[in-house]
Amino acid sequence: MSDLVKFAPVRGMRDFIGDDAAVYLFIVDFLRDIATRYGYNFLETPILESTSVFARGIGEETDIIGKEMFSFCDRSENSVSLRPEGTASVVRALISNKLTQTLPQKWFYYGPMFRYDRPQKGRYRQFYQFGLEYFGSYDHMSDVELIALVDDALRGLKIDGIQLKLNTVGDNETRSQYKSVLVEYLEKYEAELSPDSMRRLKTNPMRILDSKEQRDQEICGNAPKILDSLTPEARDFFNKVQEALSFLGITYEIDHTLVRGLDYYDHTTFEFKMKKPDEEGTIAVVGGGRYNGMVQQFGGPNIPAVGLAFGIDRLMLACGSAAGQKGQAIAVLNVDDADQNEAFKIAQELRQIGGVSVLFPHQDGITKKLRFCDKSGVSCVVIVGEAEIKKQEVTVKFLQQVKQFAASTEVVVRIDAISDFIHKAFL
Ligand code: HAM
Repeated sequence: MSDLVKFAPVRGMRDFIGDDAAVYLFIVDFLRDIATRYGYNFLETPILESTSVFARGIGEETDIIGKEMFSFCDRSENSVSLRPEGTASVVRALISNKLTQTLPQKWFYYGPMFRYDRPQKGRYRQFYQFGLEYFGSYDHMSDVELIALVDDALRGLKIDGIQLKLNTVGDNETRSQYKSVLVEYLEKYEAELSPDSMRRLKTNPMRILDSKEQRDQEICGNAPKILDSLTPEARDFFNKVQEALSFLGITYEIDHTLVRGLDYYDHTTFEFKMKKPDEEGTIAVVGGGRYNGMVQQFGGPNIPAVGLAFGIDRLMLACGSAAGQKGQAIAVLNVDDADQNEAFKIAQELRQIGGVSVLFPHQDGITKKLRFCDKSGVSCVVIVGEAEIKKQEVTVKFLQQVKQFAASTEVVVRIDAISDFIHKAFL
């Protein structure tokens, strides 16, 4: 095996460099801004948690816990896992930090998640989510607010062709009633179900509804629908969510098979779907819903919650590399070594302006520095030479058109006016 192969990233994991890194940062910045505008505060939880946090939160019978976790024993023989999602960790944090008495809490987080799934385009073993969680509100408008936030964000990111799929998994009473009706129906076809679905008939029958196997799907096509088992309270809640979305002009499609791959949902579930890159079918860019029971499941009080997570990798596919286009850069160049300190001081002053990157190229000699600036797309250079310093001046040379300054224009500017000049030229 060559060294290059040996040092490739682990399967399903990758580096973000160049355009990918720029688009990642652009999306995170964009979502941070929108989350803040909707009143969410940042929190960060560890990437590694006790395995029991995820088993308790996500559900023992889910694929994530059953076969997709990166779990191992640490040096003290404690079972720990890389987080496969953020919600269980955030609930753990709400309780560990004794914040259950100071509600509501509206939080956002972002970063890597890990699932040992079959990698393909848009599905990775290390992927990135931007999540939002809202604790302490039973009001259906909290569900609506989160959906509206996604709608707003996807418009802002100029992502077209997205469909919002909406469902409810009802309350506890709805689900226990529905599970028995569903199992009764599915048992008639038990022998025809896929091995996974056959197993789920005993452990988690509602998950059979979103099986990808063709025969399972045919069987489920005629299965009783959860919407017919809703309690009056669950139906009322779902109706109110729909009425508000319609009032706001947010289009959605009801998908009664949308049960989601995590066991914690209660009432509203939703996914925003986009066309798969380069192939048939759709994939989810955002998934979420209400999970009123989870805080109590962790030993906390009865606190309602609703949340969602954007899949950043999939947003990156949808946005394309243009989204991450870098802002403009300028460079400060000293002509001789003797001018280096003075030039660096000017660069430091210009770095206070913000909104424009200020480079201080290290190459030997002004010709090599200029060549580097040309190649790197620098818009203008500030040249600092001995004669100019004596007169307290610098020469600004535009390498590209910037506002009224055509490429190749040279302007002599006093050192004490350079910040003002650059500010006016670029911002
Ligand atoms: P999820 O549906 O499992 O929900 O994931 C949310 C989003 O993460 C998906 O819609 C998808 O865009 C992205 N995603 C999931 N797995 C992968 C993967 N292997 N590769 C690339 N992207 C992926 C959750 O994780 C819940 N915690 C959301 C939530 C928050 N519900 C309530 N609060």
